[in-house]
Amino acid sequence: MSVTAIVPAAGSGERMRSRLKKPYISLLGQPILLHTLKILDTVSDISHIIVPVYPGEEDLCQQQVMSRLSLRADIDIIAGGETRQESVRNALSRVADSCELVLIHDGARPLVSRPLIEECTAAAQSKQAATAAVPAKDTITMVSSADQTITKSLLRDSLYIIQTPQVFKKELIVAAHQSALDDGYKGTDDASLVERLGIPVTVIMGSYTNIKITTREDLLFAETLLKNYFFET
Ligand code: C5P
Repeated sequence: MSVTAIVPAAGSGERMRSRLKKPYISLLGQPILLHTLKILDTVSDISHIIVPVYPGEEDLCQQQVMSRLSLRADIDIIAGGETRQESVRNALSRVADSCELVLIHDGARPLVSRPLIEECTAAAQSKQAATAAVPAKDTITMVSSADQTITKSLLRDSLYIIQTPQVFKKELIVAAHQSALDDGYKGTDDASLVERLGIPVTVIMGSYTNIKITTREDLLFAETLLKNYFFET
């Protein structure tokens, strides 16, 4: 099976309040993005990894991350876009014709495990589209931005928090991005673009340790997890 991994890492990282952009921030002595790429590279089906980074920072990524890694898979560092969706779309245009599945995994999720990557990939191979997700632990509600009051409480039993990896048949994710572009639809993940085509996306049980590093607290949590847990690779 031929899998290309797209690792969006082109966010501005404003919520980290850091001088360095998020992919290059140190997590136990190594850039966050380096941890993410290392784990993806342990999956033998992934033969090509495309990393959209903040435009103009391709050389920085090369110096800070790639020069410290020796990867089995072929790597392309490319310019990302203004939104995550645009970054992924840029990367999709670089996927080889021979690729069967496209796996999309946030550069900011360095604690993903190899078994989870493999499970999502196997599910996409048989069912076209799969995403990792975990059941919501807290009650989730909609709040009006006008007056900061609750407008709708949602039933927790059917709510999941979407994670990555998300894996799709190549033709499907290309079509989903094209359709979103044509319709001016903006989503915050790729599964939602596939869902709006009416194609079911299989949910695979993710992990509460597969966090997206977004704020400084997440970095502390990730360091604690890395120090104290055994991560199966
Ligand atoms: O913004 P969000 O937290 O959803 O970002 C998830 C991932 O998407 C991060 O790894 C971030 O670097 C990436 N991203 C991107 N291009 C953007 C915005 C976010 O590749 N313009």
